[in-house]
Amino acid sequence: MTMTTDIKITKINQSKFEGINLDNITFGTVYSDHMFFCDFKDGKWQQPEITPYQPLQLDPSARVFHYGQAAFEGMKAYKDTNNDVWVFRPEENWKRICFSAKRLAMPEVPKEVFMNGLKTLLQMDSQWVVPGKGNSLYIRPFIFATQAGVSAAPATEYKFMIICTPVQAYYKGGDVKVKISDHYSRAANGGVGATKAAGNYAAQFYPTQKANEEGYQQIIWTNSTHEYLEEAGTMNVFFRIGDKLITAPTDERILNGVTRKSIIALAEKEGIQVEVRKVSVTEVIEAAKTSNLKEVFGTGTAAVIVPITGVGYKDDHYDLPKLENAYSTMLKEQLLAIQYNEAEDIFGWTQKI
Ligand code: COI
Repeated sequence: MTMTTDIKITKINQSKFEGINLDNITFGTVYSDHMFFCDFKDGKWQQPEITPYQPLQLDPSARVFHYGQAAFEGMKAYKDTNNDVWVFRPEENWKRICFSAKRLAMPEVPKEVFMNGLKTLLQMDSQWVVPGKGNSLYIRPFIFATQAGVSAAPATEYKFMIICTPVQAYYKGGDVKVKISDHYSRAANGGVGATKAAGNYAAQFYPTQKANEEGYQQIIWTNSTHEYLEEAGTMNVFFRIGDKLITAPTDERILNGVTRKSIIALAEKEGIQVEVRKVSVTEVIEAAKTSNLKEVFGTGTAAVIVPITGVGYKDDHYDLPKLENAYSTMLKEQLLAIQYNEAEDIFGWTQKI
């Protein structure tokens, strides 16, 4: 057992890496050798630790199980051709987990705990960042209430953790169709839609299962009156109508996606007209009917950029054309080139580990 800066480190005896087949892995099924954690109790954050990846022991009455006091983040690390490891805009994820924690009455994670934990864990598990375009290490920071006792009040004890899983494409096969929701809602004003509260995702599963039964992979969530388009499944969503790119503003209901804002910056740099404004269902369906809806794509850390091949609304379905010069292809290439350190990072987004 050794101490590095203020992190207590216990290393694995034998890495699992060699025994793992990393071809064609299903998203989130394999985890790297180590995990990072830091407990909050007695009103303060305790000494952070890195240990071999292992199950946790929690009291069955821990409040996370009963009241869902939990939030998470998604980030990725990439390896370049020199074997250097890079992370993309990590401060954005730190800020957002603090935003989510605050809204769910949990303590904010100190920046040095988040950043030192991330950096040390990635240095220790750097072989898990598999080289090659399309490979990355998905990083999952999360915080949850560990205090035992089922009284419905914010806990006094929490655990912040970081775990890592080597990944390839989130949606395999590339044919993603979405159904516009005309009944279920994901978020409401004054609620937690803009946070990465764990429960936001649980609430999506049932409506998504129903969409799956109709042949759609995801749902495009709409506002409470079902007039405006908001997010697509676990992603922010962009619509290309004519040559304009339109996306909904982030607000109390819509997640302030890191990929979303990076795509807006890249599109503007390319001279594409980007409108950040409410997008009505009527406008998009009209555009689909008149062949002006050129592209729809989702953006997110896990998914990167996913072109949508068809949109369903009520009983109708609209297939989208496969464009030669799709914005989604061009913007994805530019984003990945920055993330894999193949192109100049003029925005200062990446950090070397
Ligand atoms: C991400 O894109 O990182 C997300 O948080 C989506 C996740 C539910 C897979």
